[in-house]
Amino acid sequence: MRLISQIGEWFDQRLQLAAPIREISEHPVPRSSASWWYVFGSAALTIFVLQIVTGILLAMIYVPSAGEAWSSLQSLNHDVTLGWFIRAMHGWGSNFMVAVVLIHMMQVFLFGAYKFPRELTWIIGIFLLLMTLGMAFSGQVLRFDQDAYWGLGIGASIASRVPIIGPFAVKLMLGGPIIAGATLSRFFALHVFVIPGMLVGFVSLHLLMVLKLGINEWPMPGRLVKRSTYVSEYHELTKKDGAPFVPYAVWKDMFFVAFILVAIAACAVYFGPFGPTGRPDPTIIQTSPKPDYFFLWLYALLSLLPPSMETPALLIGPVVVILLLLLLPFLSGEGEKSWRRRPIAVLTISLIAISLGTLTHLSGYTPWSPHMNAWSGDPVPDRFLRGTTALQRQGALVFQVKQCRNCHSLGDLGGQRGPALDSVAVRLTQDQLIRQVIQGGGNMPAYGKNLSPAETTALVAFLETLHPAGQAPARDASRDLALSETPEGHAPAQP
Ligand code: HEC
Repeated sequence: MRLISQIGEWFDQRLQLAAPIREISEHPVPRSSASWWYVFGSAALTIFVLQIVTGILLAMIYVPSAGEAWSSLQSLNHDVTLGWFIRAMHGWGSNFMVAVVLIHMMQVFLFGAYKFPRELTWIIGIFLLLMTLGMAFSGQVLRFDQDAYWGLGIGASIASRVPIIGPFAVKLMLGGPIIAGATLSRFFALHVFVIPGMLVGFVSLHLLMVLKLGINEWPMPGRLVKRSTYVSEYHELTKKDGAPFVPYAVWKDMFFVAFILVAIAACAVYFGPFGPTGRPDPTIIQTSPKPDYFFLWLYALLSLLPPSMETPALLIGPVVVILLLLLLPFLSGEGEKSWRRRPIAVLTISLIAISLGTLTHLSGYTPWSPHMNAWSGDPVPDRFLRGTTALQRQGALVFQVKQCRNCHSLGDLGGQRGPALDSVAVRLTQDQLIRQVIQGGGNMPAYGKNLSPAETTALVAFLETLHPAGQAPARDASRDLALSETPEGHAPAQP
């Protein structure tokens, strides 16, 4: 016993840590804030530590290469002792972390804890939320299965809509024009080094400020925050009615943390790890790429908005939301903290919660995730084939086999992710059709690697027949000069 305390003293004389640790654990908190409402921050921190530990264990087996990622996850699931459990803990930990962080933010907002002098703590918190979402998204990519592939495809297509720098952003994100091995390396670096590094830094800062500024007192209606008096009032309060953090407040945190850890473990055991679903394959269109639950509302929103609204909603929406969150403490940095006297705050939270909930619910029904397989293998309707050449009919077959109708309708039947193609030839010239098929773009995957030149030729020949009778297909003027004779497209009979 004496030896242990001597060793302890030896270290403490050199590290000088005992005093600050004692100070931290005994610092007085307002008695009122030792409440069950105040446990979410420490829960988020604990899950973060859980993610680091399970993440390091996974990284020992996981192979970040396009060819082997999928099978290394399979071997984690099936061969490595408890590998499945660690994957499941990491996956469920991620879901819980996003939820707990969101609840923590909501609580801080409703309790006015972002007001003076804790504005910067709130702002750093916003960055922590963004990084947490970044971790969730990049983690899903590392799974490198069908869901990951299509989730990333949609992410890239969102990035591609940014004016001017869009294509550059996509290239930066994917490490090239298509989703490939370079993409995986990039996301691995993000998920394992870049974002966690920043997270550790920002979390430390966030905690330091919580310690320095003290835990927000329970908001009393009518007790207003004033810049000039708040700090001295707070000190008065903790002196008069404070209690040491340990043991007075900490047991609730510990109890809740234990509860959350058990809940994560229970989900992990009961539901098991996430995927991997099928190997990523651009030719098998994932008709319902299921993102993690907290992005589902976004999918629903995208599919419900008219196409012309998508880009503005995608590009402007998040920027406005983030700016508003960042500006919040400057817009209402003083005044009433209690939610009882802040009807607008309560209304805002309720509206956001209701709309996110509704959209998440709708995401099960929207055209993004119907059972598109029902028509994916249907042959092209007869009337589109009447009077076509052999090459064009062959193109119709490619159209069917490559399941273009998962996303495009012909004669009102088919998916709605892409535009209906009934009269696409009026809109696009042959060159543009070829480019669209080979390079994709918008939300369409690139088929360049999955079509032979002959298939592409046939497919485009078929697409060129898709225009209403009596309306000429689009032509490239320069091409008309070069080729005096072009084969006539055949108009499909109108219903
Ligand atoms: C994952 C869904 C999806 C699949 C599968 C798909 N497309 Fe698309 N396609 C789209 C989307 C979304 C657009 C709109 C792109 C944009 O907004 O720029 C589009 C656009 C097009 C266009 C241009 C239409 C226009 O009016 O501008 C053509 C032509 C086209 N696709 C052909 C095909 C062919 C041929 C196939 C099969 C080889 C196919 N698509 C498979 C989603 C898809």
